[in-house]
Amino acid sequence: MAMERLEAALEKARQERRSVSAPEFPHTAPAANVQASAPVTELWKSLAEIRISGRTARKNRISAIEQSKLSAPYDVLRTRALRIMRENGWKTLAVTSPNKSCGKTTVSVNLAFSLARQADLRIMLLDFDLRRPAMHRVLRHRPDHSLHNALAGKVPVEKTLLRVGENLAFGLNAGPATNPSELLQAKATRERIREIQANFRPDILIFDMPPMLVSDENFGFLPQVDCGLLVGAADSTTLEQLDICEKDLADLTNVLGVVLNKCRYAEAGAGYDYDYY
Ligand SMILES: Nc1ncnc2c1ncn2[C@@H]1O[C@H](COP(=O)(O)OP(=O)(O)OP(=O)(O)O)[C@@H](O)[C@H]1O
Ligand SMILES: [Mg+2]
Repeated sequence: MAMERLEAALEKARQERRSVSAPEFPHTAPAANVQASAPVTELWKSLAEIRISGRTARKNRISAIEQSKLSAPYDVLRTRALRIMRENGWKTLAVTSPNKSCGKTTVSVNLAFSLARQADLRIMLLDFDLRRPAMHRVLRHRPDHSLHNALAGKVPVEKTLLRVGENLAFGLNAGPATNPSELLQAKATRERIREIQANFRPDILIFDMPPMLVSDENFGFLPQVDCGLLVGAADSTTLEQLDICEKDLADLTNVLGVVLNKCRYAEAGAGYDYDYY
């Protein structure tokens, strides 16, 4: 992909960012059910802890779990994302793609691990692909309680959040929700997210979304988040699809950037078949 095009797209994204109205989850938003007395660190400690084995990390491409040559592309993405999000006061990020299997979940999980290696940050990643949830498979942990049940008010949110280390938490689903589209647009879901933000105070809250071209979940939900990252797959996403979705994304929220995943011809020394702009 030509450098000029990438730069032009980035500039366009910047302009779009300036023109988009305020999202619905500002970090100052009052929460309906704030546990003001519970210190945030205690609340994080109270979450059930899971461990990701080295084998799972290797098998499922969680290369950013520790710093290495393989984590480098994600660390660059992390640093850029952090800088842009801080500059703009953004706290919530949705990761989406045009079609399926582009690597949204892989990128989300790695970005979360890379961010969480900065010990002063609290990072949370929620599996919002409620139609075909897969993050539990990537982390190889089937949760006792699904996040979609917490969104529907059937279980307390904190029962569905699982901690890795001290400053990283995942919201997983053991299976699909019956009404994913309605659930993501429900007022109650907004309230749950505000509660999570107010109680757990994540510096960055990431949502792993379904693909844009095959479901309407993104269109109902993305206007509520601060920014979106579009993941394309070099082997299956066409430029036209990437273009259409980038425009749609810019209509819905601020475009943080576009990642081109699964590049077969990575730059020498990149150490990973992964590219971004
Ligand atoms: N850079 C990469 N190189 C090769 N394979 C990759 C890469 N990134 C992800 N994959 C693999 O591609 C498959 C799809 O990845 P992933 O589940 O992250 O995509 P997704 O966009 O979340 O898919 P879905 O639309 O089903 O949610 C997985 O098997 C994953 O291991
Ligand atoms: Mg996925």
